Amino acid sequence: MIPNIPLSAPDITEAEIAAVTAVLRTPHLSLGPELAAFETAFAEYHSVPHAVAVSSGTAGLHMALLTLGIGEGDEVIVPSFAFIAVANAVLHVRATPVFADIDPTTLNLTPATVERALTPRTRAVLVVHTFGIPADMQALRDLATRHNLAIIEDACEAIGAEFHQRRVGSFGDLAVFGFYPNKQITTGEGGAVLAHTRAHADHLRSLRNQGRNPNPSATEETPPASDWLHHPDIGFNYRLSDIACALGRVQLSRIDEILSLRRTAAERYHALLAGIPGLELPPLTLPGRTISWFVFAVRLPESADRPQIQSFLAQQGIATATYFAPIHQQPAWRNRIDRASLNLPITDSIGACTLALPFFTRISVIEQERVASALRDALASQNR
Ligand SMILES: Cc1ncc(COP(=O)(O)O)c(C=O)c1O
Repeated sequence: MIPNIPLSAPDITEAEIAAVTAVLRTPHLSLGPELAAFETAFAEYHSVPHAVAVSSGTAGLHMALLTLGIGEGDEVIVPSFAFIAVANAVLHVRATPVFADIDPTTLNLTPATVERALTPRTRAVLVVHTFGIPADMQALRDLATRHNLAIIEDACEAIGAEFHQRRVGSFGDLAVFGFYPNKQITTGEGGAVLAHTRAHADHLRSLRNQGRNPNPSATEETPPASDWLHHPDIGFNYRLSDIACALGRVQLSRIDEILSLRRTAAERYHALLAGIPGLELPPLTLPGRTISWFVFAVRLPESADRPQIQSFLAQQGIATATYFAPIHQQPAWRNRIDRASLNLPITDSIGACTLALPFFTRISVIEQERVASALRDALASQNR
C-alpha cells in the first residue's frame, strides 16, 4: 500500500513536545508565563512593540476591526481571492466588505484595484499577503495615507515574508497572524495581532479576555480574584492557552529552519514540474520581496478539467485543494452582495484554475516526485 500524501502537515519535534509537556506539569495552563514569553518573542521577531496572542486568526481579524473602531455604515476593502474569514470578520463588526481585484502575479490587492473600490464610506483596507507573497506595502500605505484609511495586514499565510527587507506584519496599523496546523508555524489553533501602540495592545488584551482589565493582576486561580470578575468592557473569550503558546514559542524559535525547508520544497517542485505545457507555476522570486512559502498552488491549463485531475490524484492517495474559491462565489456570500456591481476578472479567472499541491515543511523528495509525476500523467491523459 503506497502511503497517502496529505495537503499539509505540521512540523512538530521533540522540543515542542517537551515544552508542551512542561506546561502540563505546572498549574499555569492559561494567562501564564508561556503567553508572555510567546508574545515577547513574536513582537521581537517583527520588530513591533506589541504582540497579543489570540485563539485564531479569525478572532484576531475580528478584534483588529473592533480596535480600529470599524462598525456599522463603514466599508472595508478586501480581496475576494482569500480565505472566507477575511470577509466574515468585517460582517461580524456590522461593516461591509467591498471586494477588490488582485494582481495576477502576486495574487494581492494593488493600489489600482483598491482605488477602484473606494467610496466615501471606506474606512480601511484589509491587505492579505496571499500564499505568503508580500503585497506592495509601500504603495498601499501611500494610498491609505492619501485617503485617510487604516490598514490591517492579514499575514495569516505569510509569517517571515519580507517586503524590501522588512517583515510583513510591521507595516499596517494592526496585523493578524494565524497558527492553524497548515500554517508555517502552528499552535494547534491560534493567532496573534501585532500593534504599534500601547492603547491598541491594551484594547486587544481586554477584548480577548472578556473585557477585563488588559493586564489583570489575577487569574481565576490566583488571588485577588476581584480583578477576574470585574469587566469594564464587553469582550470575548479569544485567549490562547499556555499549552498552545509553548508550542508556538518553540515553533517560532525554529522559523528560519522551517522557512528554508519550505523554500527548498518550492524550488524542488519548480524543477520537477518545469516544462509541462500550459501549467503555470507560482513565482519563486519577485523583486523586493521574500516569499514565505505557505502553499504551492499551480495554475492548470485553460483546457484542463480540474475536478477530474483532482480525482485522478486522489486515486493515487494525493490530496489537493482549489485554493481559493473566491469569497464572492461562496454560497454564504452569493446572496449578500450586489453581483452586478462586481468586477473581479482576475479573481474569477485565477480562482477557476488554481490547484494547491501537497506542501509542508518535511515533504520528502519521493513524495514530491510522486505528486509531479501524477500531475504530469493526469494532464497528459486529458490532452489525448
Ligand atoms: C488569509 C487568512 N486569513 C484568516 C485566516 C483565519 O485564520 P484561522 O483559521 O486561524 O481563524 C486564514 C486561515 O486559514 C487565512 O488564510
